[in-house]
Amino acid sequence: MSLATRYLGLPLAHPIVASASPLTATLDGMRRLEDAGAAAVVMTSLYEEQIRAEDTAYARYTEHGSNSQAEAGSYFPEIPGYDSGVSGHLETLMRASEALDIPVIASLNGTTAEGWTGHARAFEQAGAAAIELNVYSVPIDFAATGAEVERRTIEIVRQVAATVRIPVSIKLVPYFSSLPHMASELVRAGAAGLVLFNRLYAPDIDLATLRVTRSLPLSTASELPLSLVWIALLSRRLGCSLAASRGVETHVEVVKYLLAGADVVTTTSALLRHGPPYLATMRDGLERWLGENGFDSVTAIRGLKDATHAEHVDALFRAQYVAALTEYLPGKLVQ
Ligand SMILES: Cc1cc2nc3c(=O)[nH]c(=O)nc-3n(C[C@H](O)[C@H](O)[C@H](O)COP(=O)(O)O)c2cc1C
Repeated sequence: MSLATRYLGLPLAHPIVASASPLTATLDGMRRLEDAGAAAVVMTSLYEEQIRAEDTAYARYTEHGSNSQAEAGSYFPEIPGYDSGVSGHLETLMRASEALDIPVIASLNGTTAEGWTGHARAFEQAGAAAIELNVYSVPIDFAATGAEVERRTIEIVRQVAATVRIPVSIKLVPYFSSLPHMASELVRAGAAGLVLFNRLYAPDIDLATLRVTRSLPLSTASELPLSLVWIALLSRRLGCSLAASRGVETHVEVVKYLLAGADVVTTTSALLRHGPPYLATMRDGLERWLGENGFDSVTAIRGLKDATHAEHVDALFRAQYVAALTEYLPGKLVQ
């Protein structure tokens, strides 16, 4: 039985990857995931807000220094606590990349061109096996068209891919008018892989306090279909790796994503819910399912149910209600 796969050109022992989360924020956390059997880990994202906050603190410090010392221009000060921000993140990445045998993928959520490329280069220097660009920002400018938002994203990918030599993947949200076109433009811009899809904060209003709240509830398998359909539609149609993300509760969802055409399946909620050792439970479940169903490898099932197979096209493309509605016809319900 071979569970081996490739993702972003990296050979992996099996297809289950721990996605970015608080579990991958520290060296200890990433080591625990490796010990539990993760094929690769994606480190918690470095957010540009985090970078800016630190730069502001840094600028305040250096400005203070240059005012008081004429020679301060080239002086790089020792800043107490500086290590907890960007440099702390890079330090953790560097130590994890050295210490772990599995690939450590760095993740970046920038907001400016310099933020993206500068930090991507730093990730590469710190030893990241690949970089995942977490490209979501809420477009709140009423004058910005969808095409402009897409162009900006594509330009970021082009610049980052031209800056580093390690593979770059793009973690997307599903909100594009034409995802196939956007996906192929991202690949043309240098993306080696796409991650479908990220989950976002869920703002709400607390009626008791009338405060706007935000939380990130853990996912369930009910979130699977959106990513599943798009993995199946894009599978083998783009020259890049596909990582499935969202709604993996057990090995069952892992198998479904592989059948749809994913190269790897990423998971966060299940690991937060059950702890890192659950990774091995999912991997063993995948192996068992393959054996029980007469398959000898992950490769044997990848894409078996993707949209390149004519018999599945109708179910995947016509994701409409006609067929499903008939299930709910009164005669059928009273059975
Ligand atoms: C508490 C929490 C923190 C997360 N932090 C990040 C992050 O830093 N960067 C990122 O790209 N995704 C982050 N995610 C999203 C996960 O990586 C993952 O894509 C998402 O939860 C969907 O997978 P799941 O259904 O298996 O949870 C976070 C998710 C959770 C629940």
